[in-house]
Amino acid sequence: MAAPCGMACDLFRFQSHIKYVINLYKQHIFSAFSKYRGLHTISRHHCDVELCRYPPLLSLQRIIRTQQVHQDRDGPTPQAKRSYQSSKKEATRRRLVLGIETSCDETGAAVVDECGSIVGECLHSQKEIHSKNGGIIPPVAQALHEQYIDHVVQNAMDAANIKWTDLSAVATTIMPGLALSLSVGLQYSKDVIKKTGLPFIPVHHMEAHALTIRMVERVEFPFLVFLVSGGHCIIAVARDLGNYLILGQTKDDAPGEAYDKIARKLKLNEHPQCIGMSGGQAIEHLAQTGDREVMKAYTPNLQSKDCTFSFSGVKSMVSQFISKEEKIQDVQAAQLSNINDIAAAFQFKVTHQLVKKIARAMIYCKENSLIDTCHQTMVLSGGVASNGYIRNAMQYVCNEYGYRFLCPPPKLCTDNGTMIAWTGMERLKRNIGIANEVQNIRYEPKYPLGEDISDQVKAEQITVPSIQFWKKCY
Ligand code: KG4
Ligand code: ZN
Repeated sequence: MAAPCGMACDLFRFQSHIKYVINLYKQHIFSAFSKYRGLHTISRHHCDVELCRYPPLLSLQRIIRTQQVHQDRDGPTPQAKRSYQSSKKEATRRRLVLGIETSCDETGAAVVDECGSIVGECLHSQKEIHSKNGGIIPPVAQALHEQYIDHVVQNAMDAANIKWTDLSAVATTIMPGLALSLSVGLQYSKDVIKKTGLPFIPVHHMEAHALTIRMVERVEFPFLVFLVSGGHCIIAVARDLGNYLILGQTKDDAPGEAYDKIARKLKLNEHPQCIGMSGGQAIEHLAQTGDREVMKAYTPNLQSKDCTFSFSGVKSMVSQFISKEEKIQDVQAAQLSNINDIAAAFQFKVTHQLVKKIARAMIYCKENSLIDTCHQTMVLSGGVASNGYIRNAMQYVCNEYGYRFLCPPPKLCTDNGTMIAWTGMERLKRNIGIANEVQNIRYEPKYPLGEDISDQVKAEQITVPSIQFWKKCY
């Protein structure tokens, strides 16, 4: 794909990146200090108040402000002035897309511009409530989305300091996901479109995970993408917008789902070190100081010479081990003396499978010339991609096979409105997938990301040499 919008946009993108880093800090600070009915928003007022307490951030903020003042006071050279004015014009003409995400248990909304700047965002997570219920109960998720969607969208718009008329389009997740959750975002969007007449862009949730990286890095099609989340595990070649070749996916659980189930089995929501963490975060945290050797048994699903995944084997193996240890130690799972070791062993076995399969996908791509060998990029995305151990392992594989490894910042790996807004923006810029008739659009709980060629991959029976990724992971 060509550069998003030329030189002026590059300049703008640079400034946007600095602002984006500040926004990340701002949101972190704001969410740590201020939890207003569970909403996490970046609002300028609140953030400036909180920034005052953080001198390093304040000085970073000052650098940007000072640069602006400096430009105004001394005046740029005529040449710089022309480029500054044209970039300013471009900036004021820049298009904005509102993204809405309600496919599972996060109500997210965000406004992004065409250079990938997050202009405003808001996220409400239902995780705490679902973890108390022992898992997602779809009607509960639906009721919570209905309760919060308007606050979340309004907060994102307020944080962006814009009106409906400032928007160029609304993009919303309509597939795949929980039917009851998807229905809320779609209905809300239809109402908005009816009132405002804005163009509507339906978004595939997994495509949004795949494209998030292009908001923060220059990544050309085709690239290899590895999507690891609570509902999916997909290796695909991203050939273009809406054009994906699936090399392999999971036959049963997704890795995030396996992490969540083992976390529940270990009763980590009662563990003092894991309060408020998702299942995946909790296991990653405990595994850091664990010894994976506690479970020496083989790693399931490494033998099949394809790119399909199965996590049910590792899940039941670890689950049985936990039950056995509970009996031997005569304590509840959360009190097991070797809980950190169990977490480390589970994480190692999951990662081992991810490593083996992505390596096979890289060999397959090379043998079938699916990716230009001069520009080999592998993007890891989805909630599980925020796991540092897995990231390190993927970096190791990429080094071995000559791939550039990229992964969005952790905050953009888990579900959010920003990735939906950005996918909408990618489509808007190329005039692809903008809906003509909105009222007849339906949500799709199951919908493939692209053409599945996993049988062709399996037919090649590719053997992958041993990869000692654990040498580079903690
Ligand atoms: O992408 P996501 O936010 O939602 C889906 O589309 O599924 O992914 C959520 C999943 C959850 O299963 C959560 O436990 C997992 O991502 N997750 C992690 C980590 N952080 C979140 N898994 C492993 N390690 C983490 N640090
Ligand atoms: Zn997701």
